[in-house]
Amino acid sequence: MKPVKVGLLGLGTVGGGTVNVLARNGEEIARRAGRAIQVVQASARDLNKQRICPTERIRLTTDSMEVVNNPEIDIVVELIGGNSVARDLVLKAIANDKHVVTANKALIALNGNEIFEAAHKQGVMVAFEAAVAGGIPIIKAIREGLAGNRIEWLAGIINGTGNFILTAMSDEGRPFAEVLADAQRLGYAEADPGFDVEGIDAAHKLTILASIAFGIPLQFDKVYTEGISKITPEDIGYADRLGYRIKHLGIARRTAEGIEMRVHPTLIPRRQLIASVDGVMNAVLVRADAMGPSLYYGAGAGAEPTASAVVADLVDVVRALTTDPNNRVPHLAFQPDAISSVPVLAMEEAKTAYYLNMDAADRPGVLGEIATVLGDAGISIEAVVQPEPPRGAARARLILLTHRVHERQMNAALSKLSTLEAVLGPVTRIRVEHLNGD
Ligand code: NAP
Ligand code: HSE
Repeated sequence: MKPVKVGLLGLGTVGGGTVNVLARNGEEIARRAGRAIQVVQASARDLNKQRICPTERIRLTTDSMEVVNNPEIDIVVELIGGNSVARDLVLKAIANDKHVVTANKALIALNGNEIFEAAHKQGVMVAFEAAVAGGIPIIKAIREGLAGNRIEWLAGIINGTGNFILTAMSDEGRPFAEVLADAQRLGYAEADPGFDVEGIDAAHKLTILASIAFGIPLQFDKVYTEGISKITPEDIGYADRLGYRIKHLGIARRTAEGIEMRVHPTLIPRRQLIASVDGVMNAVLVRADAMGPSLYYGAGAGAEPTASAVVADLVDVVRALTTDPNNRVPHLAFQPDAISSVPVLAMEEAKTAYYLNMDAADRPGVLGEIATVLGDAGISIEAVVQPEPPRGAARARLILLTHRVHERQMNAALSKLSTLEAVLGPVTRIRVEHLNGD
């Protein structure tokens, strides 16, 4: 089948990330979507600027209307930002029968009602997962995953730059201006970083979340908004002494009288999971009547996390254009004819670290014997604990942590350990996962 053709408006942090993710994961994305997705044209202001993505195969222009009017293009992805030029471009794309994907929360919060009406009339899709909480699929979770619930309230850390600044101020005592400059360099901040610092960006996002949670029109002007610029290291210190952390939250709550929508710095008890969401990470806590509380966590800004959400929207649109309308989302996520035959590994081939707990004879050389068995199996030891044995005991408790190895290596070592005269009784094995990378 022919690839679906995409036109990008904007080739900065998110535009560049989107090109890179589509290129790197193109094959896998096509297996999910049912068709390849190809970026054929992109617009930017300065065509001589160095980009974070390759552009040789993309026709570049400074005229965004050229992209929007290009008859070859099926989907326009708006990644310029703001709500003047972007609004005109999106409305023109819709009028031209093109589907739209955008990461622009200002545009959706301020002009979404108008844009959705135009899209509805024209029969095209407008998708905006990347507009809230970067890579976290929070729109999909609320709109689809929690569709059976009455949502009571939600509270989120929904500005990555603000959280990055607060975390660095609180954990490293770094000055505000220096951390903000880092956030800008890393591509987290808005073109006008005042939007991040003064809570406007979070208010745009909260506007969207409140609408999809409670079924109300987008009403940005009703959000109470306070930023983080007045928070001092002293406030952070006092809050800490009282058992709290200060986080910048967007809160939307259904009450008997109406909907609360507010964005402000907030003291949160340190034991709450959301209080440990640090750096550029975002999290949204949703309280729903059937589900109870659920927490959605992930990177809230940056090129590829945001591109992840943009590409997910592209896949949604392509599936709707391409696949069986009764089975828009394939049962197993990939199209039935693209299911892979890659083998499932036997447990022996799994790789993990281990905690071992054993009783051993309390005499010289025993630890060496055990370490030799592990070493012979190619297992390296990360830590050893030997609690002092009770007075007069002939045995000692030995606890070891190992580095990651194949299960088969550990099976071989355990079988050998069981034959050692010095190892008294069975060895307890618990697998260890650090869950912080591969
Ligand atoms: P960016 O790095 O500043 O990129 C904006 C791009 O738009 C640039 O390529 C710029 O061209 C181009 N552009 C600006 N005005 C233009 C115009 N009038 N005509 C044509 N091109 C124009 O911004 P970004 O961080 O990628 O953000 C893009 C959108 O995604 C914004 O709505 C933002 O709020 C949203 N978003 C960003 C993130 C993030 O982590 N950065 C996360 C979620 C959502 P030049 O490069 O030539 O200047
Ligand atoms: N400037 C925004 C933030 C980008 O820092 O959260 C992601 O929406």
